[in-house]
Amino acid sequence: MHISDQKFYDKVAKKVGGYKSEAIHKSHFPNGNPEEIFLEQLVKYSDKDKTALDIGCADGRFTLKVAEKFHKTFGIDISSEMLARAKQFQEEQKISNVTFQKAEAEKLPFQDKYFDLIYSRRGPSPYTEISRVIKPIGYYLEICIGEKDGKGLKEIFGRGQGFGEWDISVAKTKIYNLVAKGFKVVFVHDYFYSEIYPDIENLNLFLQSVPIFKDFDQEKDKENLRSYSEKFSVSNGIELKRHRIVIVAEKL
Ligand SMILES: C[S@@+](CC[C@H](N)C(=O)[O-])C[C@H]1O[C@@H](n2cnc3c(N)ncnc32)[C@H](O)[C@@H]1O
Repeated sequence: MHISDQKFYDKVAKKVGGYKSEAIHKSHFPNGNPEEIFLEQLVKYSDKDKTALDIGCADGRFTLKVAEKFHKTFGIDISSEMLARAKQFQEEQKISNVTFQKAEAEKLPFQDKYFDLIYSRRGPSPYTEISRVIKPIGYYLEICIGEKDGKGLKEIFGRGQGFGEWDISVAKTKIYNLVAKGFKVVFVHDYFYSEIYPDIENLNLFLQSVPIFKDFDQEKDKENLRSYSEKFSVSNGIELKRHRIVIVAEKL
């Protein structure tokens, strides 16, 4: 499974120059923008004295953006291509308090109780390892994909990340697992929102750069994409329903 993740993200990094979609879309957030809320929470628990870890840092853009809030940040990822981009961005931005290194999230190359704060922004969340390397009273923050994310799209494609698990609450599962590893969950919220892609080309471009379908093939999936675009057509484009969860937990 990790090998396929590594290959997928290496491919994305090579193709689009980092972890981002160049596709155009507009977003509508009826109950708040989860990315903004994650950032707010991260800033709230940050401190210039703290050492932080970003698990699954990808091209490091986010890691670098928040680096000044911490004394030192380590960014780890399994994709060498992503890390190469991260180091390039770091050099361009002349940021010296970040170390990017290749590592598996499940085997973190750090001693016990090393970090004051750990975060995962749509990256892996191996709670046993996180629990090992975080200090007592340290904070763990995560933004992750909810069970209803892209449900309509996955139903038409008949596959995809978390396919068919629409009724298994990711938030509840995560709370249960975090508590089992000695954390107290201090913030948890589900966010449901829409992205509107102006046309099928932009949705196609987006699907090539995200792991919703790691095997997405614009030729083989042409008909699926056409059916979806017809069914979810709205006045200003094609609607994609998203679901994110933001969690903050304190290590007891
Ligand atoms: C969705 S991207 C994360 C994006 C990034 N955190 C950001 O804020 O833009 C997921 C990242 O996790 C990495 N990843 C996946 N499985 C991993 C593992 N087992 N160990 C370390 N990194 C992993 C992938 O290579 C990829 O770069």
